[in-house]
Amino acid sequence: MAFKLAPSILAADFNHLADAVHLVNQSQSDWLHLDVMDGRFVPNISFGFPVIKAIKKESALPLDVHLMIVEPERYIERFAEAGADIITVHYEACPNLHRTIYQIREAGPMAGVALNPHSNTLLLDDVLEDLDMVLVMSVNPGFGGQKFIYRAINKIQQLKKVRTERNLNFLIEVDGGVGHQNAQALLQAGADVLVAGSSVFKTDDPIRSIARFKEIKANNVFL
Ligand code: DX5
Ligand code: ZN
Repeated sequence: MAFKLAPSILAADFNHLADAVHLVNQSQSDWLHLDVMDGRFVPNISFGFPVIKAIKKESALPLDVHLMIVEPERYIERFAEAGADIITVHYEACPNLHRTIYQIREAGPMAGVALNPHSNTLLLDDVLEDLDMVLVMSVNPGFGGQKFIYRAINKIQQLKKVRTERNLNFLIEVDGGVGHQNAQALLQAGADVLVAGSSVFKTDDPIRSIARFKEIKANNVFL
């Protein structure tokens, strides 16, 4: 299966948000990644429902909403109504994770769970059957532009192995510090979805950057 690229709008110029969304529409991207931060689960605050609704009006791509918030179960339906196609909650924020996963599915979107760098993949063993996606954080969540943590590669490999052994279907997404220099290694480890913030929007030519990611896929075909 071809991998998906999900540019993260967090790294875009918020004075020209619609332009950033249109740019992603016109590129070879697959999803648009939206980072919601509450200032409690992570030490930063980003944006919420009104901004997601505005982005939804402009986006031609599925919205991949990454909730870095405490008590996400209080807001799942509202994120679905705002236009989320995929909702990912954090393992570390959900005492009743199984219930929250089904709450997402009942609201309509695909259900993902994210693991912080300190959380072992084994923690998801009893819910993997119920998931559409596992998000492996390769930085500590809260900010764009951080350095990639290499342990994430082992976690992707472990998840891919267990998915094959148990004949499951969840996607493996990786988020944080992803760039052209590590994309090939991440895809070979088993990542299905690459999130890229700075390596797309903090460059002179975001469209070209996206195309370069997609060339990595093309090369893979011949490996
Ligand atoms: C980090 C966010 C990421 C971030 C990625 O908390 O979840 O999605 O936007 O940004 P880069 O690609 O710059 O690390
Ligand atoms: Zn994210």
